[in-house]
Amino acid sequence: MCGIVGYVGHRQVQEILLQGLRNLEYRGYDSAGISVLADGEIESVRAVGNLSALEQAIHGNGDSTRPSVALATRPATTGIGHTRWATHGRVSEENAHPHFDTNDRIHVVVNGIVENYVSLKARLIEGGARFSSETDAEVIAHLIATYMDGDLVAAVRRAYAELEGHFAFVAMSLDDPDTLVGARLECPLIVGRGEGEQFVASAVPAFMAHTREVQYIENDELVVLRRDGVQLLRPDGTVLDRPIVHIDWDEETAEKGGYETFMLKEMYEQADALADTIFDRTARGDGVDLDEEGALDEALLGDARRIVVVACGTSFHAGLIGRYAIETWARLPVEVEIASEYRYRDPIVGPGDLVIGITQSGETADTLAAMRLARERGATVLAVTNVRGSQATRDADGVLYTRAGLEIGVAATKTFTCQVAVMLLLGLRLAELRGTLDRARLTELVEGVKHLPHNVTELMDTLKPQVDALAEHWWQANFFLYLGRHAGLAVAHEGALKLKEISYISTDAYAAGEMKHGPIALLDEMTPVVCVATDSPVLEKVVSNMQEVRARGAHVIAITTAGNEEIAQHAEATLAIPRTDWMLQPILAVIPLQLLAYGIAVRRGLNVDQPRNLAKTVTVE
Ligand code: AGP
Repeated sequence: MCGIVGYVGHRQVQEILLQGLRNLEYRGYDSAGISVLADGEIESVRAVGNLSALEQAIHGNGDSTRPSVALATRPATTGIGHTRWATHGRVSEENAHPHFDTNDRIHVVVNGIVENYVSLKARLIEGGARFSSETDAEVIAHLIATYMDGDLVAAVRRAYAELEGHFAFVAMSLDDPDTLVGARLECPLIVGRGEGEQFVASAVPAFMAHTREVQYIENDELVVLRRDGVQLLRPDGTVLDRPIVHIDWDEETAEKGGYETFMLKEMYEQADALADTIFDRTARGDGVDLDEEGALDEALLGDARRIVVVACGTSFHAGLIGRYAIETWARLPVEVEIASEYRYRDPIVGPGDLVIGITQSGETADTLAAMRLARERGATVLAVTNVRGSQATRDADGVLYTRAGLEIGVAATKTFTCQVAVMLLLGLRLAELRGTLDRARLTELVEGVKHLPHNVTELMDTLKPQVDALAEHWWQANFFLYLGRHAGLAVAHEGALKLKEISYISTDAYAAGEMKHGPIALLDEMTPVVCVATDSPVLEKVVSNMQEVRARGAHVIAITTAGNEEIAQHAEATLAIPRTDWMLQPILAVIPLQLLAYGIAVRRGLNVDQPRNLAKTVTVE
């Protein structure tokens, strides 16, 4: 997740762009850059590191001889800026945005992934384009340049027609200096309207200090900004009429992107986060590529004879789902261990074992200690983390990043679904390396994984009202039981943890088949029981457990797969998730449980972003 901002107007643009990027830094902060257009030239400065590095580069630490300083003082009133969370290509100045074409006449800033960049790049290079970065984004600048004939709108429309993926971008051209043209395909982009000046950005906080009059750009639309106005277009050029909306958010709400809490914002960011985590790794379509910066040597991956996952809390639950995927697809034994237990158990681990430490913060003491212990005993250690430069990246032989962007809410949501996505990708890559899945099945599963961001968008739009109605009914309950089987059990555990940690209601999660061996005694006509009953090889068994629950008068809330009407007969309420391959259902099934916990906690008037007794990162032993 990156942050983009653009301005065309009458005021000096540099500070407007920097301020915009400061307010977008939560979206990504490993490198940044701006390009401004002045006196028939485009000046550009990019820097590695968080925004202060760019500010220093621009203001030259007082060293006015540095070329970048020129930019700070140029009388420029048109410009674009970007703050990056690397996906394609290392963290470097060359890979930082804005990117530009061979003749330095088109500059672009991009958030998201261009899926078909490999084929486009090959064609453009054949046509004489010279690339200066490893990124997919740079393709857009060169593509627009091939169609540029003085009219930036026409050139962007033709380029946009050839692009595939999940992205938003803004382009600027020397040959059409008073115009910025942007496009949105899934990733967020929004307009800020001013008097004689216009703003465009990934999120409102980027320009809220200047205007609260916004226009929403819908999916698959283009936008043209000129000093005197804004035009919204369909890709075919049809001009759209879109109302200007007044935003009355206070600073805090703005930081939350207009959502009431960071947790709600982060749940709505899951589709974007998943797309960033999945797309470039599945661009091939019939397999998965994990040979990226900091990754583990594939030989070590392919030679693993056993996998041991070590993690805590929500990350442990991601490991549990990962186990089912890896064992089912790659036929490799996987053990999933609670790190705070594993490190004191004198575990049998060594050469040939692949130990995966899953930790969003990359700083959880118990997980780090378990990783170090395994490494000292000769195992290969892989870290799955969301934070670049975190301790976990140093305590491992290789890293696979979730690309969820900054997560502020203590209750992990988007980092969890991205962790599960990384484990699914790992399962598919291991299956490919071990030849345990034929190409057709592999391609089918990769297609399913690539479609998950769309499933999540669809799910968030349809389910929230239903979940809120359930939260309204059950927010005063003092106990919830969660049941699941197979990978659905891990989903039940995560749902129970979410409700515990933000609503302080007692919950228990149990293997549904175990219920008759004890926990069934807890049930009475007051008990809500959440059953994860999505399509799976054991669904029938889950149905019989739901009947056991209802026979004791308790109330079943079932998470089901869309189109499976039979389940509804065994439940008071059902929440249906989109139909996908059954092994992909768990990553979707957890989302209604996140929303349920959230809805209940909010109705209990609790601070969901900072629950009592909990810290976002647990660095104590
Ligand atoms: C999850 O919502 C909690 N914040 C907590 O259980 C968390 O998952 C656990 O502390 C592990 O954190 P990590 O992923 O940063 O290692």
